[in-house]
Amino acid sequence: MFDTNTITRFQGLETPFYYYDLGLLRKTLEACKIASDKYGFHVHYAMKANFNPKVIAAIQSYGFGADCVSGNEVSTAITNGFDKSKVVFAGVGKSDKEINTALDADIFCFNVESIQELFIINELAQAKNKKAKVAIRINPNVDAHTHHFITTGLDENKFGINTWQLHDVVDALRKCASLQFIGIHFHIGSQITDLEVYKNLCTRINEMQDWFEDHGFPVKVLNTGGGLGVDYHNPDTNPIANFEGYFKVFKDFLKVKPGQEVHFELGRALVAQCSSLVSRVLYVKIGQKKNFLVLDAGMTELIRPMLYQAYQKIENLSRRSESESQILNLKSQILKYDVVGPICESTDCFQKDVELPESFRGDIFAIRTAGAYGEVMSSGYNLRDKVQNVYSE
Ligand code: LLP
Repeated sequence: MFDTNTITRFQGLETPFYYYDLGLLRKTLEACKIASDKYGFHVHYAMKANFNPKVIAAIQSYGFGADCVSGNEVSTAITNGFDKSKVVFAGVGKSDKEINTALDADIFCFNVESIQELFIINELAQAKNKKAKVAIRINPNVDAHTHHFITTGLDENKFGINTWQLHDVVDALRKCASLQFIGIHFHIGSQITDLEVYKNLCTRINEMQDWFEDHGFPVKVLNTGGGLGVDYHNPDTNPIANFEGYFKVFKDFLKVKPGQEVHFELGRALVAQCSSLVSRVLYVKIGQKKNFLVLDAGMTELIRPMLYQAYQKIENLSRRSESESQILNLKSQILKYDVVGPICESTDCFQKDVELPESFRGDIFAIRTAGAYGEVMSSGYNLRDKVQNVYSE
């Protein structure tokens, strides 16, 4: 929710930009910290969701670890103050250079996604006279009930090692003297709002940890991955994700043995609601079949709606009071618009048939819940300017 002063401030600024509400970010981090500390759980922030320097500085200040998917993310986490003993590194395609970066940084753990990768990390660690700590990323074949583009834990997905390969994994681990097996890792998908899904994941993790122990490999770390979803439809009434309910599922259903640690890798739930993409209407095209609002932001600034058919709430901040008064006295007109960007692609549309108060050139729009996978997925396509940032403080 934007107050009048903030909207007035937006009116004097060049658009488009990402607006960060750092107060809301801190409240979210606080809620997550309290809920996870209650059970002694370890949370690593999935840096891929947003690596804006102010955002990661805030996250680091709460003592969270970092979940990285590239050598550059590993280095960025460490140079921004994340404790190297809380850095984990996942990814199906870690290059030798990236593995070496992580070995040099003495990170907490590699989440290993194939048997071949185990041998390569072993070889590179041996060359440096180091022992690399590894967790095996297992593909548990659990349906995350989310959009298929952001599902990762099914047999058909490229991520992790399938359960039928686990005999080969323990054989490999026995041969790799420069590896230290510390645990098992899972990540079944993103924007998961049905907590039942996590109960199913707990059942699979319990089975898998028993399997490793039966084969002579004690499991110290249970890393359940991330994926907790947020409310894209009601960002004002539901600004903070259900951390309490989420962690409680793991407390209730995961079989945690003495000395074991439970780790999480949350991205979206920590940062999605703290940012909106703010844009201006450049042109209004009233047609016979369709009305279009052409914004000065497009898929180059925020690609989620185009790439995953993702819903993100669109608001006309300049006419907000009109739409509020609309409820009381039906004076101003509500029209249906396709809200589109300026990019030369038909897919450059944020949403079709959005009901909005009649809108005009120069009106300020907010596309909400844009803090996760927003700014970081922006591009320079069409030689667009790099999207700017504005902060609440
Ligand atoms: N751990 C691993 C190994 C991951 O691959 C991811 C996200 C996470 C943790 C964090 O997941 P989260 O808590 O943020 O759901 N660009 C897509 C989402 C891609 C997620 C990639 N992996 C989107 O905009 O919806």
